Amino acid sequence: MSAKTLNSEHVILKKPVALIGMMGVGKTHIGRLLAKELGISFVDSDDEIVLSAGQSVADIFEFYGEAAFRDLESKVIERLLGNKASVISTGGGSVTQPQTLEKMKLGAHLIWLTSDVDVLVERTARRDDRPLLKGRDPRAVLSALLDARSSLYEQAELHVDSSRGGGHVVRTIIDYLADQ
Ligand code: S3P
Repeated sequence: MSAKTLNSEHVILKKPVALIGMMGVGKTHIGRLLAKELGISFVDSDDEIVLSAGQSVADIFEFYGEAAFRDLESKVIERLLGNKASVISTGGGSVTQPQTLEKMKLGAHLIWLTSDVDVLVERTARRDDRPLLKGRDPRAVLSALLDARSSLYEQAELHVDSSRGGGHVVRTIIDYLADQ
């Protein structure tokens, strides 16, 4: 991506950028590209949860349950929101906790990466460590979760279709941030 086509130098962040959206939508990939273009740090909330718990996401779900995972996720995201010079990739279900969603809406530029279910099915098939998909029909689970969560994701201040590839998404987000 050429720096000349990007507005990065016009972006002055007063708060971090948080990417929300379904599993497989590309939050981590796009988050890394965006952070690099902006010259700021990138963090992934799932990675931070694993570091602080000393266990994988799958093990936390299996041994302590989803509710315990959501508690940890909420605390970790609250901590990550403290670094304004960062891009945060959040777990797809973080928005299901009202207090986590409120904290993100207040404390970050909240951006929803969207795509249709076909893209999600194809991209999630590349990894097999997502507990909510294990042993289930991925299309059925992803469709049901997207239906249940859309009204939450919609609360983001910017919605960007990620099906068209990372470069387009990063440019759209940077142009939006440069206008803030
Ligand atoms: C989840 C998404 C995952 C991870 C956990 C639960 C969800 O993160 O937090 O498996 O509820 O959608 P990604 O969105 O990064 O895959």
